[in-house]
Amino acid sequence: MKAEAPLLRCRGLGKRFGGVRALEGVGFELDRGEVLALAGDNGAGKSTLIKIISGVYRPDEGEILYDGVPLHFDNPRAARDAGIETIYQDLALADNLDVGANVFLGREPEARFLGLLPRIDRKRMRAAAHQVLETLEIDIPPSKLTEPVRNLSGGQRQAVAIGRAIFWKARLLIMDEPTAALGVPEQRKVRELVHRLRQQGVAIIFISHNLQDILAVADRILVLRRGRKVGELSRAEATGDEIVRLMVGG
Ligand SMILES: Nc1ncnc2c1ncn2[C@@H]1O[C@H](COP(=O)(O)OP(=O)(O)OP(=O)(O)O)[C@@H](O)[C@H]1O
Ligand SMILES: [Mg+2]
Repeated sequence: MKAEAPLLRCRGLGKRFGGVRALEGVGFELDRGEVLALAGDNGAGKSTLIKIISGVYRPDEGEILYDGVPLHFDNPRAARDAGIETIYQDLALADNLDVGANVFLGREPEARFLGLLPRIDRKRMRAAAHQVLETLEIDIPPSKLTEPVRNLSGGQRQAVAIGRAIFWKARLLIMDEPTAALGVPEQRKVRELVHRLRQQGVAIIFISHNLQDILAVADRILVLRRGRKVGELSRAEATGDEIVRLMVGG
């Protein structure tokens, strides 16, 4: 029974901020290894929806089943512990730390020096970071691994954020505008990463304003307008024109 349930099932989700209905009656399902794009104009409710799933907001209405079980996260940490990792647009990398430290940010392993003073185990962090980057076929020169991540390119930084999610065994990866700040080669790299994760059975929800991204990567496209779901298209039936028509209405 449990194995047959979709990984994620949202029903009738609603959220108000004062007088603003940010989200109303939104439902959808997501399977393992499936990529769902969230499309919609500014203020359509995309970020609100992913923040509900990632434990930042509590919905006012509706329910979420994760692996067939009702989900009641009241903080992002609880969602992460359940395998839901979110990469926000600003990535939340610590610019002054190296790749290994960023992979472990907030969850650092400790080593005991002479069995006495606990301290952060940098060697282990570096080795683990290297391994996860290798698994994802992300090439960051070894010399760069020990430099602050501010010295990395936008695509490499995005890769570190994805690597971090994978290292912590994400089953559901949520990305808010993953390619917005990237150059063309780096956008391609991130798309490749998404494909690879999907092959590994990771479910992905990503927000994008970029129709090319959406059409290149998504299995399904959910379109929001003014907090409501106005369409859900499979990749096979989706066209850029149709997505835009749904986004703007009319
Ligand atoms: N914390 C908040 N407090 C008050 N209003 C909010 C809050 N967050 C979102 N809203 C409002 O809810 C609506 C949906 O916002 P949301 O951020 O989810 O849109 P979005 O689709 O992510 O837009 P964008 O593409 O601009 O990021 C908007 O009208 C927004 O002003
Ligand atoms: Mg947003």
